Amino acid sequence: MIYVNNNNEFHLSTANTSYIMKVLKSNHLSHLYYGRRIKDRNDYSNLYRSYATPVGNETDYSKKCNNYSLNVTNLEIATYGKSDYGEPSLQIEMEDNSRVSDFLYQSHIIYEGNKQLIGLPHTFQNEDKVESLEITLYDQIVDVYVVLIYKVFYDRDIITRSMKIINGESSKIKIEKAMSLNIDFENNNYDLITLEGKWIREKHIQKQRLKKGVYYINSKRFTSSADHNPFMCLADIDVTEDYGSCYGFALIYSGNHQGLVEVNPHNRTRIQMGINPFDFSWILDEKKEFQTPEVIMTYSYRGLGDMSRNFHNAINYNLIPKQWQFRKRPLLYNSWEAVYFDFNEKKLLKLAKMAKELGMELFVLDDGWFKGRNDDTTSLGDWIEDNKKLPNGLAGLSSKINELGLQFGIWVEPEMISKESDLYRRHPNWVIKLDNRESSLGRNQLMLDMANPNVISYLYNQLSSVFKRGKVRYVKWDMNRSVTDIYSSYLPKHRQKELAHRYILGLYDLIGRLKNDFEDILFESCASGGNRYDLGMLYYMPQTWASDNTDPGERMNIQYGSSLLYPLSTLGAHVGSNPSHQVLRQNNIESRFNVACFGLLGYELNLNNLSNFEKKAIKKQVEFYKKHRKLLQFGTFYRIKSPFNSNHAVWMVVSKDKDEALLGYYQKLQESNENLETVKLKGLDKNASYHLESREQYMNIERFGELINDYVPFNVKTNGLRGIVHKTISDNYMFKNDVQKIDTFGDSLMYAGFKLLQQFNGAGFNENVRYIGDFGSRIYYIKRFQ
Ligand code: GLA
Repeated sequence: MIYVNNNNEFHLSTANTSYIMKVLKSNHLSHLYYGRRIKDRNDYSNLYRSYATPVGNETDYSKKCNNYSLNVTNLEIATYGKSDYGEPSLQIEMEDNSRVSDFLYQSHIIYEGNKQLIGLPHTFQNEDKVESLEITLYDQIVDVYVVLIYKVFYDRDIITRSMKIINGESSKIKIEKAMSLNIDFENNNYDLITLEGKWIREKHIQKQRLKKGVYYINSKRFTSSADHNPFMCLADIDVTEDYGSCYGFALIYSGNHQGLVEVNPHNRTRIQMGINPFDFSWILDEKKEFQTPEVIMTYSYRGLGDMSRNFHNAINYNLIPKQWQFRKRPLLYNSWEAVYFDFNEKKLLKLAKMAKELGMELFVLDDGWFKGRNDDTTSLGDWIEDNKKLPNGLAGLSSKINELGLQFGIWVEPEMISKESDLYRRHPNWVIKLDNRESSLGRNQLMLDMANPNVISYLYNQLSSVFKRGKVRYVKWDMNRSVTDIYSSYLPKHRQKELAHRYILGLYDLIGRLKNDFEDILFESCASGGNRYDLGMLYYMPQTWASDNTDPGERMNIQYGSSLLYPLSTLGAHVGSNPSHQVLRQNNIESRFNVACFGLLGYELNLNNLSNFEKKAIKKQVEFYKKHRKLLQFGTFYRIKSPFNSNHAVWMVVSKDKDEALLGYYQKLQESNENLETVKLKGLDKNASYHLESREQYMNIERFGELINDYVPFNVKTNGLRGIVHKTISDNYMFKNDVQKIDTFGDSLMYAGFKLLQQFNGAGFNENVRYIGDFGSRIYYIKRFQ
């Protein structure tokens, strides 16, 4: 797995990939190769190229090495000031204000397994083969060491990297930039794929051709943000889901981050990821260390699909908390969009009763339960029940919920504080703010200074008491604003630029302690939806509320995009109301389910306003989800058609043993007279025989409008008061959609494809016609029978 040959070359290999580095004559650590696996060899010098003459006007690094300029060398760590004019990955200012450093190979160690990154989330060995390599580099002039830490997850095709900086000097140094990853590739024939977004429109896939110059994604919000997820992929320009090379990189971090790609004049493509150097510096005291977050990377020569599955496996086995790995997640009901802030115990219990009746397992009380919280202007920070709404407290409410046969879960937003709160009155200096400026508010609230350990202890005590009082089994941990007025009255003046990172370290400390002390609580992170859906949070909290948008048309994009990196086991998805509260689009209950069930299903709508039709449909959905829960939460995910470049999203999930699968088919707009469609399935056993059958799905016949008169013997008015007959029929009559059943072979389904029934084309309708409509969908269940 990690092999060092006599030529001072390091070969990190996984089942299908190789990552090769070399110590050059100059003692710089050069990147030679990352890609499809090649064998361990005693000599990789054929992978290294150098110039035979001076490289034009590039600066020579040193007289000792001919024609050698760092600007044309592929490096594993890049610094400024010794002939590399690219973006440095590490920048340090010494006590004498000099900024030049030059790190050369000194030693390395290899060991089995992995060490912990103290205070930071990280991948870990499970029952798999893991080996680590630490390469120590040393600056000849100042007494500073850099340790590059690589971990190799053999079976997962995953390599991780982070960096540690050690100050051996007898004086302080200032770190200005410390990127966890730097890889230089020798050409620029790649597309860059990233996940961009904003509130209720998270994780849209963006693809662009690399050009000379520097491009970066980042966050300055103190969250990883929906703007740019800390994920980047460099892919062959003709990459598809199944063919072509691609490299995926993801940073295990939840705060200000940066991902950078630079193509320099020599076509060297440099990729970096790490803490955002913007508004950051870190004063490293004598003999102290600074550890960067970890980057997880994978390479696939079999397209984007494999890249994603490598990430999914690593996240499921080597990142999320062990006690939640492959552990069934409850089907939940969340009160937020049903009642917002307007509730009391009676109202909640009525909803809970209906949730139970419909088959749900956990009741989540969202925002609004604490002291005086009737809208979003007050009370954050005071984690004590509002006794007007909850006269029997959380203890009373949760007991009653438990008696109904449901578990109890709760919403908290601990990092926040309202000006109108007891906490603010007591500790105004616990807030991130500048005394000489009016604080900008986000959702009417301020942020607590998570760099202050007193804040962390306060929150720990308050929250543990809430969790115990409420016999809480699930926590939705929210975070609803981005930072402004960046200043900590806890930190000394000269350390103010450490605040963004210290905020995250404080957060990790708090949630790390809570995770350990409340092992049985299922934590779901949220930040106005998917504003902090990142690998850092997933290390502590195994699932994330992917977006506040529950409209199925929007969600299919968000969930498709999320799947580039995140497995279904991490993705919270709810069935919301009609029309959707986010886009006011009309949609049907079946499509809302069909999208949301590919992930961790919940319902978040007013159950007391449901029609009979919807209640009956939901009962069937719940039954279906429970039956296929394992597959939908932990199956192997395949993308088939992208909503970002077609009118459909199609994906499927397959069990590990390939015995069963579910196919999700989603349409954006109904096309007139749509052609016959074929979908090529993936991941099945080519030799097996399968039975494919549509999920039993119902349509509200209201959608036929006056065409209903073609089917019933009497005249049904569809409008006005007389439309009441139409309404009554549609509310009570469960009109079954087309059912397609096929018995065939795996190879046929995958290579020739599954031929779908024709879509409605205005010329007639029977049970062999699919009426999908705008934002309609189908699910098909596939089971091996031989
Ligand atoms: C955020 C979350 C929502 C909900 C509200 C409550 O917006 O994303 O799901 O919890 O806060 O205030």
